[in-house]
Amino acid sequence: MANGKRKISVIGAGNVGATCAFSLAERKLGDIVMLDIFEGFAKGKALDMSQAGQILNYDGIVTGTSSYEDISGSDVVIVTSGFPRKPGMTREDLISKNASIISEVGAGIKDHAPDSVVIVVTNPLDLMTYHMWKATGFPHQRVIGQAGILDSARMTHFVADAVGVSNEDVHAMVLGGHGDTMVPLPRYTTVSGIPITQLLDTETIESIGKRTAGGGGEIVKLLERGSAFYAPGNAAAIMAESVVGDRKRLLPCSAYLTGQYGMEDVYIGVPVILGKNGVEKIVELNLEQDELERLQESGSFYKSQLSEVLGWG
Ligand code: APR
Repeated sequence: MANGKRKISVIGAGNVGATCAFSLAERKLGDIVMLDIFEGFAKGKALDMSQAGQILNYDGIVTGTSSYEDISGSDVVIVTSGFPRKPGMTREDLISKNASIISEVGAGIKDHAPDSVVIVVTNPLDLMTYHMWKATGFPHQRVIGQAGILDSARMTHFVADAVGVSNEDVHAMVLGGHGDTMVPLPRYTTVSGIPITQLLDTETIESIGKRTAGGGGEIVKLLERGSAFYAPGNAAAIMAESVVGDRKRLLPCSAYLTGQYGMEDVYIGVPVILGKNGVEKIVELNLEQDELERLQESGSFYKSQLSEVLGWG
């Protein structure tokens, strides 16, 4: 913590990074630094956000930079730098392009913010989070991927719509990789404590699961020039908030497994408790055989990608 005041840095001042920084500012979580290879892009957006402070009732606390020295002392670093998906591209197509960006950013974080908790948003998420863990050399508890909150929020929206209730009363749980292999869990998705399996028929639940898994692609297709950013940027801010406030929120995040759910040496979406040390605990849900198999299939897929495409493991 720099001078007793919290400091959060956001790498990448594009759609996701700027949305995230703005969300952090509105939550008054501390000093915010946005870093981008295009310095003016980061500085211009930071100035705009600082000026918005008067309107939205926060102090001018956002600065822009292209220099890693400015992230020193960060409690949390959120990484959004990298290319977004274009129509026809899978998240996996992005691997090599974004891996080299993650290597460079990881080295900057390691040198200048060695005590930070790192939250990765760059896709393909589970692979880039593993790559970041290797690039920083940090304990795995301090490198976490943002995906499950977003995927659960997407499922929440579809469930709220189908049941005809407020988003606020729905809590969804989506595990597994942030891609086609994600595992929505209807048994652990509730409306004010009532499992949706008691409120919706199987066909509707299945179609919600499919739409959730394809949720990012649906937006990429509509946008035609980029990918989702409002929900992803805000989801990363929620994670940062739980870390800097040591709130111990239980949220689905991409975390490094060391035997949980029968898997190891892979990053995959699981429920975790987030506090000042990053992942304080991985929560092991009681899964039915088919749910566990789907989660393990998702893990195996990413494990093979780690060795085949990134050369890890
Ligand atoms: N260092 C710092 N910033 C970089 C670097 C780098 N090496 N390489 C690229 N950037 C910056 C770009 O200059 C750009 O401003 O990252 C930003 C990316 O912003 P956008 O192109 O708007 O992409 P965005 O929609 O924000 O998505 C970023 O998050 O959700 C994921 O799939 C998405 O991987 C993508 C990432």
